[in-house]
Amino acid sequence: MSDISNLPNSKKIILKTRPDGDPKVSDFEIIEEKAKAPNDGEVLIEVQALGIGAWIRTTLNETAFHGATSIGGTLPSMGIGKVIFSRSQKFTEGDIVSGPLSAQSYTTMPGDFFTKISNPEIDPFTQIGILGVSTGLTAYFGIYNVGQVKEGEIVLISGAAGGVGMIVCQLAKLRGAKVIGIAGGKEKCDVLINEIGVDASIDYKNENIDEKIKEHAPNGIDIFFDNVGGEILDIALDNLRDRARVVICGAISQYSHHDTVDGPSLYLRLAEKYAKMEGFTVMHFEEHYEKAYIELLELYKLGKLKAPFHIEEGIDKFPLALQKLFTGGNTGKLMVKV
Ligand SMILES: NC(=O)c1ccc[n+]([C@@H]2O[C@H](COP(=O)([O-])OP(=O)(O)OC[C@H]3O[C@@H](n4cnc5c(N)ncnc54)[C@H](OP(=O)(O)O)[C@@H]3O)[C@@H](O)[C@H]2O)c1
Repeated sequence: MSDISNLPNSKKIILKTRPDGDPKVSDFEIIEEKAKAPNDGEVLIEVQALGIGAWIRTTLNETAFHGATSIGGTLPSMGIGKVIFSRSQKFTEGDIVSGPLSAQSYTTMPGDFFTKISNPEIDPFTQIGILGVSTGLTAYFGIYNVGQVKEGEIVLISGAAGGVGMIVCQLAKLRGAKVIGIAGGKEKCDVLINEIGVDASIDYKNENIDEKIKEHAPNGIDIFFDNVGGEILDIALDNLRDRARVVICGAISQYSHHDTVDGPSLYLRLAEKYAKMEGFTVMHFEEHYEKAYIELLELYKLGKLKAPFHIEEGIDKFPLALQKLFTGGNTGKLMVKV
């Protein structure tokens, strides 16, 4: 873009009211305004795709681990875009970048916030999915560094048909584990078995989770990788083997009532089984991102890692997409194509 005087219109998704419970489309508003001209050090980016992550819900509270979104503020989101005007030494026009673009169709921000994509020939959805920090990399560090999965172990995964979950299932299989995925509904369970290659699935909406775990792992599980929290965490704790590891990646069932989180009542199973429970955020592994990215890219190129995704078309769909994440409307990584 050579003519900076002719800036494009940008659509933004802003917070209208703080959600009471799960986010609803009516909590948000879409506004349109001219994109801001970049100052020194800044870039103007045309947003291509945005990842819809559960952490966005946590920013809608007045206080939040990832920083609170103010009323009238643009929703945060990580994604992929193309630099169309650069006043940063770091980028030139045409560069494909990833970073905190926010829920809008054009973004003007300091170049230092973004990372140049080293494989721009790979589509933006795979970049956000398999190769993305809050999807592929989260799965990688969670199951390999925190869970330390080993050959022959039994791994139980909640939220298994979601973005992070599906990659965890495959990474655990690649290390020779037996994988049991928990997901909501028969359709998702079929995808887990037929496309992702898990050994067994549990439909938590229609099956007795405890009975099913005992059927597939009569001697207990070695790793529970938890994306959901609440009741499912307690049931998993009741099925641990000696020296088991419980990986707390997330707790999506709890984000809409953050002040009254249902904690596990069966935590004493950790003592009884000489087991441990460890939480993490992907940011704790920032210095290892490059190594994980290279490994995931290699697995993707070899066809050993699949990442089904669910795409909503158009920035206007961002609020609906966020609502869907909390009602199980997605199979695989949920994204908005802008
Ligand atoms: N630690 C980190 O650094 C990090 C980074 C990224 C993400 N995460 C966490 O990883 C988890 C998965 O994130 P994602 O972005 O990949 O989302 P996702 O799994 O693609 O989507 C969320 C899924 O959670 C399930 N779900 C929603 N509400 C639920 C409820 N009340 N009870 C049970 N299941 C529910 C739904 O699947 P069903 O249809 O199966 O219910 C939904 O499809 C989240 O907890 C997120 O916070 C952590």
